[in-house]
Amino acid sequence: MVKYSGYVEIELLVNNESCHVVIQPSDTLLSVIREKLGLTGPKMGCENGDCGACTVLIDGKPIKACLTLAVENIGKAITTVEGLLNTNVQKAFVTEGGFQCGFCTAGFVVNAYALLEAHPDASEEEKTNWLNANLCRCTGYEGIRRAVDLAQAHKKVLLQNSPKVKNGL
Ligand code: FES
Ligand code: FES
Repeated sequence: MVKYSGYVEIELLVNNESCHVVIQPSDTLLSVIREKLGLTGPKMGCENGDCGACTVLIDGKPIKACLTLAVENIGKAITTVEGLLNTNVQKAFVTEGGFQCGFCTAGFVVNAYALLEAHPDASEEEKTNWLNANLCRCTGYEGIRRAVDLAQAHKKVLLQNSPKVKNGL
């Protein structure tokens, strides 16, 4: 196990870009993403794992960035909401108005993206359970849910039209 002390320079892979940052070993991934890299999509809400506003993808899995240290993520692929620009999920949130103040939105977009990548056929119950990891104080969740449903419909069309499915592979 590597031991860190004082200030250290580390390399993180964020949104497919290699980023060198000088940090303290106790810095959370969330604080480094926001304060050192200037990616302010992930939000500091509760900072104890309850609200999901800080959610990012680590090697494709949704992780609350307030609960993991930056040094724990060296060598992993980190994706923030900025890296999901123009994806079907991000566009669906715009189309369906899946936000009001927007504080929770990055977390929802990232978590919904992970859901549809892992489970494109997710049932209503599975979507509800998965998205329980995120809290919204404004929307009543209806626009958010419509956005996820729309993104799921787009995802299914994409999958049906993929060469593998068309060729029965
Ligand atoms: S800020 Fe990370 S879960 Fe709330
Ligand atoms: S849109 Fe305001 S907290 Fe969700």
